[in-house]
Amino acid sequence: LKLWPGLLAAYRDRLPINEQTPLVSLQEGNTPLIFAESISRELGLEIHLKYEGLNPTGSFKDRGMVLAVAKAVEAGSETIICASTGNTSASAAAYAARMGLRCLVLIPDGKIALGKLAQAMMYGAEVVAIRGNFDQALALVREIAEESSQVTLVNSVNPYRIEGQKTAAFEVIDQLGGAPDYLAIPVGNAGNITAYWKGFYESRERGDIDRLPKMIGFEAEGAAAIVRGEPIADPETVATAIRIGHPASWQGAVNAARDSGGVIDSVTDEEILAAYKMLARQEGVFCEPASAAGLAGVIKRLKQGRIEPGSRIVCVLTGNGLKDAHIALSVCDSEFPVIDADMAAVRNQIWSHRR
Ligand code: F0G
Repeated sequence: LKLWPGLLAAYRDRLPINEQTPLVSLQEGNTPLIFAESISRELGLEIHLKYEGLNPTGSFKDRGMVLAVAKAVEAGSETIICASTGNTSASAAAYAARMGLRCLVLIPDGKIALGKLAQAMMYGAEVVAIRGNFDQALALVREIAEESSQVTLVNSVNPYRIEGQKTAAFEVIDQLGGAPDYLAIPVGNAGNITAYWKGFYESRERGDIDRLPKMIGFEAEGAAAIVRGEPIADPETVATAIRIGHPASWQGAVNAARDSGGVIDSVTDEEILAAYKMLARQEGVFCEPASAAGLAGVIKRLKQGRIEPGSRIVCVLTGNGLKDAHIALSVCDSEFPVIDADMAAVRNQIWSHRR
């Protein structure tokens, strides 16, 4: 079994790395691309799931964070800061712990999944909740980072985040043996779709692929600023990870969609939760609600006749379902019974109540 060296070592020649850059690693990247057998059969498509929930902190953020933190250390910074709907803060906190940095985190109060908060706290970040949303938190940390040269901002406005995250596209190409017809992805702050597009584009320049995928990104309807064409002051969605009303990489998302012949579209909370359940029930793949926006969007556009039958599609599942157990339990149809610890009761329960 070959040991995976982590993203920085594996893609050294395609990342902004030099002799002074520390090769930080929690063995991020190298995530599975899982063929969705049942859903593909049902929809008449060929769907593969890029399961980013298996990164060290359970989301795709680790790909960008490992490089952002390595470059912060290289520059002599001792403090990193971010605003987050949860995953960025979990990832920043982990790599800060690994490298002995101070980590400051601003989160929207009451609007992040408990598992993500637990991660940031456990890794030792200094967490501050604001009475406001992600967009306000991001504006505040941007200003702090501008004020102080000691503090490095590690949100995806930091270009190293995008550089690190583009490696997911390299992996998809390797795993699929080429580019898919479509790359379906949730859109929040719009950094990830920007990063995938850069990764595919660079791969074509290198001659690894000869055609590019259509990039189809999906915002939650209550937070669909790009689709509506204007920022949303009070974004709302069950998918708290993408509860963002003023995406920082807005233009990157628009460019990816336009230049690839794709689209930025939106999906409702109902469509997101249906896809979320479908992935768990039919494929055995548990992602977080926001992560299901890509599949939800594929289903929506297939029904509209905008996706050709038989298309080969990669859906990016950005985060692990375990981060938000509360939401998972709330979408399950029934409560589980509590019964006496005896055979008669168990027999009665399992044979007479078969679902
Ligand atoms: N999916 C998950 C699970 C996320 O956590 C995020 C973003 C996205 C999708 C959207 O990615 O912002 O690059 O368009 N989460 C950020 C955070 C905002 O703070 O963790 P994007």
